[in-house]
Amino acid sequence: MRSRRRRQNWPRRRWPPDALEPRLHEAVEATRDQLHEKQGSFVWAFYGDVETRVWHLRAAAERFLADYATHPGRYVAGELPAVPLAANSVDLALSANLLFLYDDRLDRSFHVAALRDLARVAREEVRVFPLASLDATRSEYVDPVVERLRADGLDVAFREVPYEFQLGVTEMLVVSDCS
Ligand SMILES: C[S@@+](CC[C@H](N)C(=O)[O-])C[C@H]1O[C@@H](n2cnc3c(N)ncnc32)[C@H](O)[C@@H]1O
Repeated sequence: MRSRRRRQNWPRRRWPPDALEPRLHEAVEATRDQLHEKQGSFVWAFYGDVETRVWHLRAAAERFLADYATHPGRYVAGELPAVPLAANSVDLALSANLLFLYDDRLDRSFHVAALRDLARVAREEVRVFPLASLDATRSEYVDPVVERLRADGLDVAFREVPYEFQLGVTEMLVVSDCS
């Protein structure tokens, strides 16, 4: 059953920078292996090749670690589906490469709850990309989740983006609470 699917063991609590560094390094290396293995499934127009994408991942990890070490107060540890922030406390909520992509381990009710809560904290809108599963097909949860959110009174739209990494996947979900 979907609800019993295993959730991946990602770091979620507040980690000291020294403890996060090896975990980030490990995550980048694991991504590197997967990209080499499946490079034919991706579009390389933006990155050029696997090693350039890995370079970007490493650079992002290093920027994050440096900022996290010097400005820990900028970060709030938490995990979906509940966001530990007050209503309307951020302008924009972004979710990349988690919702819909991992629909083999995060079930439909998780997606609905997570998006409701992201819409609660975002003054302007929530943006989610990609809307495809790991096999690059549109997640089967997109339509039922959108239907549920609209029934709750949320405003939901699809927007094309000028970025394609999974082949043919260029759609972003935009959710806002207009009440
Ligand atoms: C594939 S990575 C994507 C990272 C980044 N957003 C990006 O686009 O490169 C998936 C991320 O989701 C995080 N994650 C896993 N479960 C989560 C949850 N319940 N709430 C929030 N983040 C979660 C993981 O820690 C991991 O960093």
